[in-house]
Amino acid sequence: MSSLKDKKILIVICGGISAYKSLEFIRALRKNKAEIKTIITKSAKEFVTPLSITSLSQGKVYEDLFNPENEAEMDHISLSRWADLIVVVPATANTLSKLSNGTCDDLASTVILASNKKIFLVPAMNVRMWEHPSNQKNLNNLKEYGYKIIGPEIGDMACGEYGSGKMTEPSEIFKYVENYFKQLRRNNNLKALVTAGPTREYLDPVRYITNKSSGKQGYELAKSFRDKGFDTTLISGKTNLKPVEGIKYIEIETADEMLKETLNNLPVDVAVFSAAVADYKAKNYSKEKIKKSDQENINLTKNVDIISYVSKHNSLRPKLTIGFAAETENIDENAKKKLSEKNCDWIIANDVSNEEIGFDSKYNQVKIFYKNNSDESIEKMSKSLIAEEIVDRVIKNFN
Ligand code: CTP
Repeated sequence: MSSLKDKKILIVICGGISAYKSLEFIRALRKNKAEIKTIITKSAKEFVTPLSITSLSQGKVYEDLFNPENEAEMDHISLSRWADLIVVVPATANTLSKLSNGTCDDLASTVILASNKKIFLVPAMNVRMWEHPSNQKNLNNLKEYGYKIIGPEIGDMACGEYGSGKMTEPSEIFKYVENYFKQLRRNNNLKALVTAGPTREYLDPVRYITNKSSGKQGYELAKSFRDKGFDTTLISGKTNLKPVEGIKYIEIETADEMLKETLNNLPVDVAVFSAAVADYKAKNYSKEKIKKSDQENINLTKNVDIISYVSKHNSLRPKLTIGFAAETENIDENAKKKLSEKNCDWIIANDVSNEEIGFDSKYNQVKIFYKNNSDESIEKMSKSLIAEEIVDRVIKNFN
């Protein structure tokens, strides 16, 4: 069977000398039975013609944002929803800048920014433009927003210079597309569960014990599992984050509720316990508000350890059970102890005393400790990229 049968791919061609190579890419997609629609920017028309694209793609080419004929047939939002995947080839420095800054001034940028699908950007530009700090800053933003950047390569350029900025060859771009759909098909049979955020342990109807967890890392993990094709469940304490679309989302407050929902949603293939579960709860919950005069001593009792409960359960244990270790000191030692005491396959340790990578930060820096005594450090990057790194390792493990 052709690897891309029934796959809908929206190609966006921007104005650069490599635009002609997008035709070869379209040819490869068609050969593999993909359904194609194309958007061509005004400047791309200086390099390729709508007629040549239609002849090769056998699909419609869209040009203007305010074209009544197009909007009546398929408006710009429907066009972005139609696609299973969007590939911007070539992506110019101008397009990267627009997407990084949220500028929508033509059909291409409007459709891409309105999209809720995976988007591949294939940059091509002069080496100085590529290396310019403003372009590099845009790229970092785009990676954090979840765009996949393919290339560029190092080589001779059309302008006569040599360096980084040369567009990746169409046959290579095709392989990325093919692998993306292959991976989705393979992971579609896999289930992932993520716990995230803090728990609240009520002392009385108005007071509770909690912690500083923002839930960000767990939400990013759930998004990444979803994007890579896993059937994903996120069990979260109360956070300021929006529920993740396209997954099963369950909100809880207490550790007992988190345990109950976790058990209700097993078995899964992989579970990542990133929640900061409060270690203690009130020994005797008071139904009435505790009066000031009665507050001198609060009696606490230990909460259930959710990950240990699950990982030591004979029939419910996920194939891959992954814990986090939030530490402020002796990180390696404490993480290794948790790996063995909690019977995990991996422990992902992070230093929560460092504000730049701590609970409420956009960034994280982690070290993964594996059951076979090896470990691996992942450098500081956004929590969404850390999530991708972790999920890629999970996929590798299953393969
Ligand atoms: N965890 C859990 N249930 C608990 C406490 C922790 O499932 N009651 C999980 C966390 O989700 C995390 C791992 O255990 O995956 C380690 O959590 P952490 O807060 O770092 O450690 P604790 O076990 O609470 O130990 P300590 O507070 O002494 O560091």
